[in-house]
Amino acid sequence: MIIAIDGPAAAGKGTLARQIADHFGYAYLDTGSLYRAVAHAVVKAGKEPGDEAAALKAAKELDPAAIDPKAIRTGEIGQAASIVAAMQPVRDAILAFQRNFAENPPGGAPGAVLDGRDIGTVVCPEAELKLFVTASPEVRAHRRWLELKNSGSKVSETQVLEEVRERDKRDRERAHSPLLPAADAHLLDTSDLSIEAAFKAALAIIESGRT
Ligand code: DC
Repeated sequence: MIIAIDGPAAAGKGTLARQIADHFGYAYLDTGSLYRAVAHAVVKAGKEPGDEAAALKAAKELDPAAIDPKAIRTGEIGQAASIVAAMQPVRDAILAFQRNFAENPPGGAPGAVLDGRDIGTVVCPEAELKLFVTASPEVRAHRRWLELKNSGSKVSETQVLEEVRERDKRDRERAHSPLLPAADAHLLDTSDLSIEAAFKAALAIIESGRT
């Protein structure tokens, strides 16, 4: 069983995907963390995120088991990730890992939940269930801003909204694997939903998709 969850930045995909994976005992892969880790390696090597040779080298050398979750969760690395993610050779370099995770979930789990931008369209077009999770840019920026504020950041909400819009634009308008709902994806707008309500709505979609 493969569940594909796509959507724009800060729509709540990660939280939802993790809850769904826990609920069914499936393995969970946050594919954004792979692009973030590639971007982080490029920046750490003193290169620009737009340096394709550096990004491809980092993608080929990526060890998903060695990703430092804290180092990649910054706004700067998020922006850099969306730059390296626009490069087709970088996407190709990490495709096999994602497909293998979906088809042979680690720990012998009976299924896998993957979240990202192109899971339902490119990575796992054959997924049994596809969710496209959205929320308005304002709601997403507000959630992200609260998160940042709680972790001590002084960034303004206006700036976070600007970054959300910038990242949306780059993810949607890129030539390769743009952010796009698969034709057979179920849309879930979480703008007016709490985390619990979004999880319930997702479960209802999954249950109805199974019958
Ligand atoms: O979900 P996230 O914010 O951690 O993702 C970081 C960047 O990686 C995002 O701007 C776009 C890119 N990405 C992608 O192109 N394809 C994926 N499957 C996941 C993320």
